[in-house]
Amino acid sequence: MFDDKLKDQVLSSALRLRTASSALTRDFYERLFAASPGIRIMFPEDMGVQADKLFDMVLVLVQSLDHLQMLVTEIEALGARHVDYGVTDDQYPLVAEILLATLADHIADWSEADHDAWAQLIDYVSDLMITGARAATPKAPPAA
Ligand code: HEM
Repeated sequence: MFDDKLKDQVLSSALRLRTASSALTRDFYERLFAASPGIRIMFPEDMGVQADKLFDMVLVLVQSLDHLQMLVTEIEALGARHVDYGVTDDQYPLVAEILLATLADHIADWSEADHDAWAQLIDYVSDLMITGARAATPKAPPAA
């Protein structure tokens, strides 16, 4: 799935995280809501619990790099749940971009190689989530 070079890059950069995950996640949501204020309403007013869920998921991915295929069904189901949250396919690139920008600021000595490795991982997860979302979305009835 992913080669050893990519896995090493993601793992070694995760070890260079400068901040606690809660600070990183807060920063991520601040950037996201600043970039797209309309998105704020999709999230609970109190972001206390929510704030940690996304980053917890990122950590699960980092720890699962050797057997991501075992998470495919779970990631697709996560994508299907996102349909219920009102998330649309076109919002994934923005979230990916903001996540990368946030990681870049919180990981020491962030390099282009780090960026490329994380971008591949995030794209992989986004694509799987979108696959799960499409499978969960009822098809429009044929036009009369
Ligand atoms: C790499 C892509 C993404 C990952 C890994 C991710 C991860 C998560 C996780 C783990 C949760 C917790 C709830 C659950 O497990 O069902 C969640 C909730 C949520 N996510 Fe995402 N997400 C991603 C993309 C997006 C995008 C593109 C949006 C669009 C704005 C979004 C908006 C939301 C919303 C609105 C909630 C629910 C908040 C709530 O009501 O508590 N996510 N996400």
